Amino acid sequence: MTLRPAGGIDDVPEERLGHISVMSREVGAALKLGKGMTVVDCTLGLGGHSLMMAEIIGVGGRLVGIDQDDRAIVLAKERLKGFSGRLDIVKSNFRNMNEVLDGLGVQAVDAVLFDLGVSSIQLDDPARGFSFRRDGPLDMRMDAGAQVSAFDVVNTFPEEELARVLWQYGEERFSRRIARNIVKARAASVINTTAELTAIILRSLPYKHSREGAHPATRSFQGIRIAVNQELESLESVLGVAFTRLKPAGRMCVISFHSLEDRIVKERFRSLSLAGSAAVLTKKPLRPSPEEESANPRSRSARLRALERIL
Ligand SMILES: C[S@@+](CC[C@H](N)C(=O)[O-])C[C@H]1O[C@@H](n2cnc3c(N)ncnc32)[C@H](O)[C@@H]1O
Repeated sequence: MTLRPAGGIDDVPEERLGHISVMSREVGAALKLGKGMTVVDCTLGLGGHSLMMAEIIGVGGRLVGIDQDDRAIVLAKERLKGFSGRLDIVKSNFRNMNEVLDGLGVQAVDAVLFDLGVSSIQLDDPARGFSFRRDGPLDMRMDAGAQVSAFDVVNTFPEEELARVLWQYGEERFSRRIARNIVKARAASVINTTAELTAIILRSLPYKHSREGAHPATRSFQGIRIAVNQELESLESVLGVAFTRLKPAGRMCVISFHSLEDRIVKERFRSLSLAGSAAVLTKKPLRPSPEEESANPRSRSARLRALERIL
């Protein structure tokens, strides 16, 4: 099966696609959006993709937007207020998709979107503690009501567990050294801030490694963030659920930003396809255009996979 751009997305003017939404045109085409559809945006964020989807489904359509971040909910509500008649916005983890849809009386849907990871409003706000570029409290919770924050991971996880998080979720090759230095530092005094953590990471790395490529704290911060938000567990558990809510010929699209997420999506899509329940629409993941990559550096690592339900 090939990906055919749906008429719907081609009718949306460029400025309505939203500057920050990754691969919006490709999402619209992959989901084959059209008038009157019922669609779910599982990662509402700033509502950029939802804006595009709401426009295409029109007044007869229905859009459910989910996010676990209170601020995203407030901002998306504001941004999407022109579409309130066709829109339900729910604060929840997307792993609770069944409960959310049941609660709204929504049965089967035509399209589901996941645009994974953190949003720019989360990353750019020092108070959220996601970034090594700005000093802030060690937090990193997308859902402010969640039990475990980065502070807990950094200050209470046993050394072995810390090293596992950095290695498995951050793919950081110096995970053991960093974990050892974190444990040493916290024995002297509690580690409170992103700047303190960054300093420990920097002094754990060999000089050459810390001068090459991406910021040397990138991998460790990614690992801790994934652990705090249980990102891979949520993704693992929701893909099957999302599939079961699709109508026959309904479509699901996932944009991921690192290989750990992409592997989960690829394998789940493959097993649905092997079972004869779905057709994978993207043999290889779609990548952003060179123009999008240069206009929006965050898009550079994006990989989009899509499938269509058969049975
Ligand atoms: C990359 S942003 C989405 C941006 C959005 N597509 C747009 O166009 O503005 C990812 C959003 O997903 C949310 N998110 C990530 N994992 C989630 C989960 N398991 N449940 C609910 N929301 C989640 C984050 O809080 C964040 O707001």
